[in-house]
Amino acid sequence: MTTVERTRVAIVGAGPAGLLLSHLLAASGIESIVLDRRSREEIENTIRAGILEQGTVDLLVETGASTRVLTDGNRHDGIELRFAGEGHRIDFPALVGRSVWLYPQHEVLRDLVAARLAAGQDLRLEATVERVDDAATTRPRVIGTDAAGRPFEIEADFVVGSDGSRSVVRSAVTGGTRGDLFREYPFAWFGILCEAPPSSDELIYSNSPDGFALISQRSATVQRMYFQCDPDADPDALTEEQIWEALRLRVPGTELQEGHIFQRDVLRFRSFVAPELRHGRVALVGDAAHTVPPTGAKGMNLAVADVVLLHTALVALLDDDDERPLDAYQEVALRRIWKAQHFSWWMTTMLHSTPEASEFDHRRQLGELRSVVESEAGRTYLAEAYTGWPLETRLV
Ligand code: PHB
Repeated sequence: MTTVERTRVAIVGAGPAGLLLSHLLAASGIESIVLDRRSREEIENTIRAGILEQGTVDLLVETGASTRVLTDGNRHDGIELRFAGEGHRIDFPALVGRSVWLYPQHEVLRDLVAARLAAGQDLRLEATVERVDDAATTRPRVIGTDAAGRPFEIEADFVVGSDGSRSVVRSAVTGGTRGDLFREYPFAWFGILCEAPPSSDELIYSNSPDGFALISQRSATVQRMYFQCDPDADPDALTEEQIWEALRLRVPGTELQEGHIFQRDVLRFRSFVAPELRHGRVALVGDAAHTVPPTGAKGMNLAVADVVLLHTALVALLDDDDERPLDAYQEVALRRIWKAQHFSWWMTTMLHSTPEASEFDHRRQLGELRSVVESEAGRTYLAEAYTGWPLETRLV
């Protein structure tokens, strides 16, 4: 016999979106159960991007989700765009009065997990969710098996799918229909973590005749770097020297600080938006709802923006029986999602080379980069999007 448990909000997925939502709901007096198939160790050690928008940082700090971001994170006031042998700085505070923070996603996760556990959050790890039933009723149910393999059923007032790009909840929202909006790219990133000091003060996004490279950072002693590669590349096929050779070639003009490479991976590029973000009493947030290529560093920030909106909608629904904000969730969330889709696509296509690109395409790309860096309007657009548009909390 499966016992049926009850909660107000069942949140499937303990990534940044799911944990932050449980945190905001708890502050509004709404209890939730958060489920994830991974262990705490896996959740806290997933290597993801490292850039937080100004609004994301403000929210984490103001809601008490993370204070470490201010002490252990690093404020970045600009990035460098490198092309045709020259570097061009985009000065964020001068252009838009905002900055970003370099604070890796797994650190955000550590802070969120610690904050939620300290607050007594019902967090069920290593639990496999099989499906969500009765989305169109006022009693949607999450069905699966717990860490010990025992079946469970949770009946909630609302179910949220924050379970990433391979979301199980998504089909309860979209009905498994076609109509996904997506784009694939003919390249990927070869990413490394290495033991070395930073090679420059700020991140370098480099367009070179040999393809794109990004010099990012993690700490004073560990760096993250990427270079464009084939989507089918085998991360173990290159020697450390071959990796350094590839990076040097793509960032001419900067002497890279080299060191032991202790982690490598290939990140495929995809843009995706689910055809529906909500059906009845089930909604999607974060990567379950959309995926962006990593070039604009928008992934986690976009998840946070969804969560802020859905939190407003759930408080209105569950405290005041007011469905109007929830009815507006999809439309309002999609406005920012498509702006971020555009920005991520734009940064990606402006900086990478494609196998079929002609000489005309290369020169046009350099013309595009030049029109951005030589125009205050161009630099301002980039700075505005990169540091993040203001977080919307109102839905109606
Ligand atoms: C990263 O540090 O992992 C990173 C930074 C900026 C990006 C993408 C990834 O645009």
